[in-house]
Amino acid sequence: MKRRVAILISGRGSNMAALIRAAAAPDFPAEISLVISNKADAPGLERARAGGVTTEVIESKPFGKDRAGFEKVLQAALDQHGIELICLGGFMRLFTAEFTKAWYGRMLNIHPSLLPSFPGLDPHGQALRAGVKLSGATVHFVIPETDAGPIVMQGAVPVGDHDTAETLSERILEIEHRIYPEALRLLATGKVRIEGDICRTEGSAASENFLVSPLVR
Ligand code: GAR
Repeated sequence: MKRRVAILISGRGSNMAALIRAAAAPDFPAEISLVISNKADAPGLERARAGGVTTEVIESKPFGKDRAGFEKVLQAALDQHGIELICLGGFMRLFTAEFTKAWYGRMLNIHPSLLPSFPGLDPHGQALRAGVKLSGATVHFVIPETDAGPIVMQGAVPVGDHDTAETLSERILEIEHRIYPEALRLLATGKVRIEGDICRTEGSAASENFLVSPLVR
């Protein structure tokens, strides 16, 4: 039986689209059963419908600081659709600790940096200002702290001297679209287990390739 997944979005939903695309494969162990946006005008909603996925809008703005109130409505929608796993895809609303604890081990997020470096806002700008030569993306389990939690998968990209936040974000987005479906596949097939603050993967081996940056010719 395929695991029933909800993707939560606030914006363009390119990671959502990558997950929907991957889940269309007959052997993918999860199905995208629902896309929920906390913004009625999120462009990702149209993309989800085009992909044949049920969508719901639960506007968070009217709830203001009442996060628990918003989450009550959210949880009701998740229950109604029998959702087992959640993927956050650019979902720009913080959860209460209670909600993250209730979904611990069953809720993934993707962040465009090699966590624990550069959590929070403007991770691309943070990476450029720090002058790192490699950056990337991280899929992790969600915990009460923002952009933290046991790391399921990371992908790295080189950072060049001429990169801007835009060019870096484009390059990182490509790796995001690759690793998010793979991380969901691991979770849905029960290949990951959390040990304390760390996530371990059954049958995994380190990639044999090195990524060195900069290359000087
Ligand atoms: C992605 O780059 C994702 O990693 C980031 O928001 C973007 C959403 O794009 N998430 C965070 O920064 C979480 N802290 P998308 O809507 O096209 O998937």
